[in-house]
Amino acid sequence: MARINDNFVKLPESYLFSTIARKVKEYKEANPQANVISLGIGDVTLPICKAVTAAMHEAVDRQAAKETFHGYGPEQGYAFLREAIAKGDYADRGIDIAADEIFISDGAKSDLGNIGDIFAADAVVAVTDPVYPVYVDTNVMAGRAGECVGGVWSRIEYLPCTEANDFVPALPAKVPSLIYLCYPNNPTGTTLTRSQLAKWVDYARRNGCVILYDSAYERYITEEDVPHSIYEIPGAKEVSIEFRSFSKTAGFTGLRCGYTVVPAALKCPDSKGNPVELRKLWNRRQTTKFNGASYIIQCGAAAVYTPEGSVQVRESVDYYMRNARRLSEGVAKAGLKVFGGKNAPYVWVKTPDGVTSWEFFEKLLHECNLVCTPGSGFGPAGEGYVRLTAFNTEENTLEAVRRIERLDLSK
Ligand code: MLT
Repeated sequence: MARINDNFVKLPESYLFSTIARKVKEYKEANPQANVISLGIGDVTLPICKAVTAAMHEAVDRQAAKETFHGYGPEQGYAFLREAIAKGDYADRGIDIAADEIFISDGAKSDLGNIGDIFAADAVVAVTDPVYPVYVDTNVMAGRAGECVGGVWSRIEYLPCTEANDFVPALPAKVPSLIYLCYPNNPTGTTLTRSQLAKWVDYARRNGCVILYDSAYERYITEEDVPHSIYEIPGAKEVSIEFRSFSKTAGFTGLRCGYTVVPAALKCPDSKGNPVELRKLWNRRQTTKFNGASYIIQCGAAAVYTPEGSVQVRESVDYYMRNARRLSEGVAKAGLKVFGGKNAPYVWVKTPDGVTSWEFFEKLLHECNLVCTPGSGFGPAGEGYVRLTAFNTEENTLEAVRRIERLDLSK
């Protein structure tokens, strides 16, 4: 008799952003005249830049001609894109990552969800809290999370990041196997300095942990001392996997493309203690379960690294960062405490005293027709905060700021 994977039943019924989408849909149906502005899910609003669209148009034409048609591509991604990344994202920053350590995919979310396949079923996972829900939910699915009591999973080690510790997580008290770090951080928009990140690399090296480093937002970094890649830290290649995305960098949320770096130097023991190269396992996993990202999309992604592409992508990032600045200033003017937004497209707002994240979500929706993401949806330490994204249009962001400034915080 067929049986389900019971772990799926342990999960909350719906993914955070699906729950919010349902609530907003219900509100809009009940209030059809409301002009609802979403500062909720981090979806981009600017169109794909000219250099990328031109590259994709040309790729479509190549697919239409017998001589230049491409069928299945390499599961790891085309060499032209892997080499462009190795140079543009690493060599140009003085980091030595080879093209064959880079695996192209249909996005960082998939890779972050799938990476667990290559680790022990009973691996103990540590996450910063609040956290991008994919890290936790996919480990629940894999049976690593234990039981959920009051929104806390018994086998997951939570590392709180709040105003009290300046959003810098303490090193784990109990040594985990896998540590998820996301910097610049989703959802808080905060960062680690190079020396703060170096402590994590040192901890992982001393304790045999692997760091799963999500740097999907690195293009938003404006400050000098904030590392763009974990591999800027000496010794990181032996203990970390890095995940990157074209979604927020170049507006690929609807096109889908990202990549994962698994350095050749990264080894992890099997159950008998023999060291195994993780790159080989990830390659085996990808060649078996994935047929590569589309040729057309990879041509588009490669155009991000051309001189025109990099200027155009920079312009989009700057546009969103202007929105982030306006949001931060507007929220502060309204009398609320605000964090993040300096090196990330996310602004993390403390709710008024005694108001929960979901209560403030409802208040913003009903009184301002604004959608935010309740901090508690990202984990227990997110309670008492909400997240605003800078990815809406400039006009909508300015209108959102006007509405927030008029918000009556006394009731
Ligand atoms: C978010 O809003 O946190 C992101 O859009 C989620 C994602 O990138 O999958």
